[in-house]
Amino acid sequence: MSEFTVLATAEEVAEAAAAEIADVLRGGAQTLVLAGGTTPKRCYELLAELDVQWGRVSVLFGDERCVPPDHPDSNYRMVKESLLDRVAPATVYRMPAELGPDEGADAYAEVVANVAPLDFVLLGVGEDGHVASLFPGHPLLRASGLTAGIRDSPKPPPERVTLTLEAIRDAGRVLIIATGAGKADAVALARRGETPSGMIAGARWLIDRAAARQ
Ligand code: 6PG
Repeated sequence: MSEFTVLATAEEVAEAAAAEIADVLRGGAQTLVLAGGTTPKRCYELLAELDVQWGRVSVLFGDERCVPPDHPDSNYRMVKESLLDRVAPATVYRMPAELGPDEGADAYAEVVANVAPLDFVLLGVGEDGHVASLFPGHPLLRASGLTAGIRDSPKPPPERVTLTLEAIRDAGRVLIIATGAGKADAVALARRGETPSGMIAGARWLIDRAAARQ
């Protein structure tokens, strides 16, 4: 189902993830979907220093909070500060979640449809096993189409826009990164295929010893 690689530290996970993204981009991948939250920040900082022909790359987002792009909670702001201010992708398709869950999802579905296939998707994972804004047991897990809006996210803020599980499953490669003891339960659940993060066949994981409960 999923393949787990355990590294000693969070820094090694960030380094390995950055190296893998750079490798697939050098190998011809053109559509790169980035994760929000906090885990990927160090990966993005290291990725900005690697040799990548960003002029061939389109950057997309796995999910976004329904806040302005310069808001402290914005995933776009985090990716901009850690990566996009330092590299120049051909195109950055920001997820316009400030339009609201429904309008933002509708707008982004057109973007994803136009740039498909998604070559590489990076995801973080929540302590409950959610990925993007797809939460365990939430009806959104059964959403069809490419994007969806959520108004009752268990993780604040409540309103978000997300790629669907269907869209993520259709991607060429999916890499999930998880570090810290707080993610150990999510990793264990994913190993049993019991959470959204465990429902992505073929996903590869880079985790540190703390998340592997080692
Ligand atoms: C978000 C993220 C979310 C995140 C996980 C892990 O918008 O919050 O997309 O899915 O990846 O919640 O978050 P951390 O990396 O901060 O632990």
